[in-house]
Amino acid sequence: MLVFYLTLGVLTEFVTTLDSHLRGPAFVMEPPPRLEFSNSSGGWLDCSASGNPQPSIDWLSLDGTSVGDVIGIRQVLRNGTLVLHPFAAAAYRHNIHNTVYRCVASNSVGRIISREVRVHAGKFMFLLLLSINIDEFHVTAPVLVYCYYAWYQNICSL
Ligand SMILES: *[C@@H]1O[C@H](CO)[C@@H](O)[C@H](O)[C@H]1NC(C)=O
Ligand SMILES: *[C@@H]1O[C@H](CO)[C@@H](O)[C@H](O)[C@H]1NC(C)=O
Repeated sequence: MLVFYLTLGVLTEFVTTLDSHLRGPAFVMEPPPRLEFSNSSGGWLDCSASGNPQPSIDWLSLDGTSVGDVIGIRQVLRNGTLVLHPFAAAAYRHNIHNTVYRCVASNSVGRIISREVRVHAGKFMFLLLLSINIDEFHVTAPVLVYCYYAWYQNICSL
């Protein structure tokens, strides 16, 4: 009987200790809402989370499927960073270089999903003088315009 109580006591303590240390994931580094990068530099997105057990990091693509490695083009590092390697024009892929990613951190306690990260592989950046008529006022303002790589069309955004 004594042995039984002793065992139960130890077991209870063990479970309590374990429980109090279990923690769902929380982002330490959440990726930014936008990433613009040039084909010559490539780009990367950091994502890391704390928790116990240590959460694992995954990336989701636009359709919610898990992002895999594409040799020489896209790679998920072991520390959770998503790398988009420098690429030649011929290797451009719309669903890799101009798309939306989300980071997922999960452990046995729970799962959290980051905000959406809009990724644009960009090429040009220039100043444009823009004239706008707002009511009677005529305003001329320099505006920074980004044009993104899209070999089938030019996409520019203000
Ligand atoms: C992961 O490793 C890469 C390269 O070693 C580094 O650039 C990146 O910042 C690391 N990511 C995190 C989340 O620490
Ligand atoms: C990026 O694209 C430009 C223009 O197409 C090309 O000249 C350059 O070599 C590319 N960079 C890389 C790393 O392939």
